[in-house]
Amino acid sequence: MSRWHKNKQSAVTSVSNTDNFSQAVLNWFAVNGRKDLPWQQKTGAYSIWISEIMLQQTQVDTVIPYFRRFMQQFPDVNSLANAPLDSVLQHWSGLGYYARARNLHRAAQVLCEQHEGQLPQNLEALCALPGIGRSTAGAILALAFEQRQSILDGNVKRVLCRYYAISQWSGQSAVTKQLWELADKHTPMQQVAAYTQAMMDMGATVCSRSRPHCDLCPLATGCQALAQDIIKNCPAPKPRKPLPERQTRMLMLQTLGSGDILLSQREQQGIWGGLWSFPECPAEQTAEHWCAQHLGITINKPDKKHYWPVRQHCFTHFRLNIEPVHILLDATESQKITDLLVTQGNSLWYHPQQEAHFGLAAPVAKLIQQLK
Ligand code: ADE
Repeated sequence: MSRWHKNKQSAVTSVSNTDNFSQAVLNWFAVNGRKDLPWQQKTGAYSIWISEIMLQQTQVDTVIPYFRRFMQQFPDVNSLANAPLDSVLQHWSGLGYYARARNLHRAAQVLCEQHEGQLPQNLEALCALPGIGRSTAGAILALAFEQRQSILDGNVKRVLCRYYAISQWSGQSAVTKQLWELADKHTPMQQVAAYTQAMMDMGATVCSRSRPHCDLCPLATGCQALAQDIIKNCPAPKPRKPLPERQTRMLMLQTLGSGDILLSQREQQGIWGGLWSFPECPAEQTAEHWCAQHLGITINKPDKKHYWPVRQHCFTHFRLNIEPVHILLDATESQKITDLLVTQGNSLWYHPQQEAHFGLAAPVAKLIQQLK
């Protein structure tokens, strides 16, 4: 039984310095909260930190297998700090938002250099680490050290906006300031870890964005948005401009016979920084022209290349339309590419059945699956 289960008895009897709001949340957690998540079974701030970073943009069910594999490979700060970045990115492959993995790696190195390999136990020092903002720092301190710190992630913002019928977009600075004050006001003096987990769980499951279950909500009696029947308008969504679109062509160069495909490492800066991907040809140029210019090979014959349907990948700031082109190479052409690129070290031949020991961008991993 983890420490989370122990809260069951204590939460139902009220704790001192706790208002009705937090008492209701704690009572809800005792019965309904998640207490068997893998990062709740381990003690220590390291696993809480890793899980909080993974959970920043990703749902619990998706995170669980990634968290298990990551912890097996990098069980502590030292192993993470000393690992090659490629290996960290490989364990992040498919989770997206790869800056999180690069920041984790860098932060582990800072912890070894400046904090004797331990996570600091104060907000300021945690916020100074790459990838840790105020809410994540609050969550780490509350969940790992039972410090009375508040959090304000997207789920908690929604719960508070609805409870107080705040209908503006919660990212407006005045609204954010007000929400931090409310978050702080309701954070209890005791059982802060259970309360923090409860707010995140309730926001994700009960007070969900599009289908809230107000009938199951412990805060329903005091919820002003429910009373005014404006739940669906609270908070207003972020005002969005339509996302710009970019085009690219991914060249899936594959050797006939061996089936090996050419992958190149992307530059550390920019999208998919440090991940491995297919060579890309700008949309203004034809695949034939690019291959002739960069690889010195001719792919004019129709049976040498196949255009696959365009697929779209969404980033926060733009949509990328990817046109995959499957190009078959004979032994001479492959050798030419080996001499030109692979010997330089940032390109390699990869067999689709092989296990990848490096990070692949999500659409690249999907295309490789289809090439198998
Ligand atoms: N989102 C961010 N942190 C979380 C956590 N600890 N549990 C569930 N969802 C979360």
